[in-house]
Amino acid sequence: MRLTRLALTDFRSYASADVTLAPGVTIFSGPNGEGKTNLVEAVGYVATLASHRVSQDGPLIRQGAEQAIIRAGVTDATRDNLVEIEVNSGRANRVRLNRVPLSRPREVLGTLRTVLFAPEDLALIKGDPGERRRFLDDLLVAMAPRYAAVRGDYDRVLKQRTALLKSAGPKAVRAGRGSREAAMATLDVWDAHLARIGAELLVAREHLVDAVRPHVGHAYLEVAGGGGDTPAAISYRRSFGTGGSSPSGESPVEAAEDRSRSDHRDRVLSAEAGLRAALGEVRDAELERGVCLAGPHRDELELSVRGLPARGYASHGESWSLALALRLGSFELLRAGREDPVLILDDVFAELDAGRRDRLARLVAAAEQVLVTAAVPEDVPAVLAGTRFSVSGGGLAHAG
Ligand SMILES: Nc1ncnc2c1ncn2[C@@H]1O[C@H](COP(=O)(O)OP(=O)(O)OP(=O)(O)O)[C@@H](O)[C@H]1O
Ligand SMILES: [Mg+2]
Repeated sequence: MRLTRLALTDFRSYASADVTLAPGVTIFSGPNGEGKTNLVEAVGYVATLASHRVSQDGPLIRQGAEQAIIRAGVTDATRDNLVEIEVNSGRANRVRLNRVPLSRPREVLGTLRTVLFAPEDLALIKGDPGERRRFLDDLLVAMAPRYAAVRGDYDRVLKQRTALLKSAGPKAVRAGRGSREAAMATLDVWDAHLARIGAELLVAREHLVDAVRPHVGHAYLEVAGGGGDTPAAISYRRSFGTGGSSPSGESPVEAAEDRSRSDHRDRVLSAEAGLRAALGEVRDAELERGVCLAGPHRDELELSVRGLPARGYASHGESWSLALALRLGSFELLRAGREDPVLILDDVFAELDAGRRDRLARLVAAAEQVLVTAAVPEDVPAVLAGTRFSVSGGGLAHAG
């Protein structure tokens, strides 16, 4: 699939901008702070309804404006779509697809699929476990948009249950702010909800990790270059009991056989029972601390390089290669048997040495559409020749 047009009104630094995009490679270049990342951030927003840079929408609206509008033309094998998103401050965003207002914004997910690499991706390796869970959940939604609802439901249940734990905890009860009995009965109900939705989410993540693993391993070797044995590995670790994705040494074939032995439904049911039991075991500690101690919100995507945990051990270059491998692996998984997602490389080449730059460029050159930003156009390897725009002063100009 590809983006045919991007029009912005009061989005970030753009009062208004309108670009028509061709298939193949498009390079946006210009000095620092002129609005290159702002552009690709808008593209990512159309695909995910979230920014890759900020968790709140406020900064996306141009200073002094009330709302930002993103319009995107998206063409895939079956049709041309027009996505229109109103990002509002202080009230709900609105989304229209082919001029028809959607009752829920998330219904637009899947219309445009993107894979975005950005300097922020280093946090995937060096940051908190939450970054890696978000990576998995974003990829899950890109693979199967229905998981946006599962994820939303889980977040809601987790919030409710956590509030309840706080109100039923010893401190609240002593202070006369909560009734322990009432809360305990309600907690049982929320345990059941959390286990049911949590199991669905975590088993989906486990399948996803199994599916993306070979692509990530392959991409790591391609990006990092040289030989080496099992340099990068990824695995999923539950916050409770046993289970989890197959060990990283296992071949994809074995993993597939595993899956056919115990089908998806069985695995979800057994995860649900396991999580339910775990919640029972940790409840006293949860009440004491006022936090929910078991569930997919505490699971880990474990990353390692040469047998050592990536976080805290991997070198800067290794961390970069692994972050890239996660994105490239995602791209390969998303395109398998389907149309290519739009690939976005924000300021990536400046961070890489010449060898990695060239290998990355060769890997992505054949994608249906690649959007590249670079402060220094010479940083972009020649194999990625394509349409060029120069970005400055809140505007865009064709640069050949
Ligand atoms: N909500 C907003 N309203 C107005 N201007 C904004 C808003 N958000 C960001 N900006 C401006 O946009 C500019 C940053 O744009 P962007 O991040 O796209 O730069 P860039 O071209 O990618 O730069 P670099 O090469 O350093 O990555 C900053 O000057 C910032 O002040
Ligand atoms: Mg930038």
